[in-house]
Amino acid sequence: MKSSIIIIVAATCFAVASAARAAGDGKALYLEHCAGCHSKDGGKAAGGAAPPAGQSSEAVYAKLRGYAEGSGGGKLKKIMRNVTRKLDDAGMRAVSGYIESLPGKR
Ligand code: HEC
Repeated sequence: MKSSIIIIVAATCFAVASAARAAGDGKALYLEHCAGCHSKDGGKAAGGAAPPAGQSSEAVYAKLRGYAEGSGGGKLKKIMRNVTRKLDDAGMRAVSGYIESLPGKR
């Protein structure tokens, strides 16, 4: 009994810690992998697409998944496909959450 409580507490701590890490990572991942083309504030569009800032986390995530899976995107989708190859699913979610927090021009 005692040991199972310890396991539950440890697992909870791990989950909380990784959620916090993901939120913090969103900004770091954005600055490392995205800002070069979409600018630091996410307000720069690339190709014929809309700028990332001003879009919801879900919308950005869906677009990233589309690029990663080759099911979405415009003329320059290959560029974004290469970008998404550098991120895992958690990274795409973290970066999408960070983008939603950017003001954008709505
Ligand atoms: C090398 C330049 C480059 C980098 C780096 C880059 N992008 Fe892009 N991004 C583009 C281009 C070009 C397009 C338009 C692609 C197309 O034609 O669909 C685009 C499109 C997008 C779109 C679609 C916007 C829309 O509404 O259709 C999103 C979202 C996006 N990028 C997010 C990101 C994120 C997040 C990162 C970092 C993980 C990133 N981009 C890194 C060049 C880049």
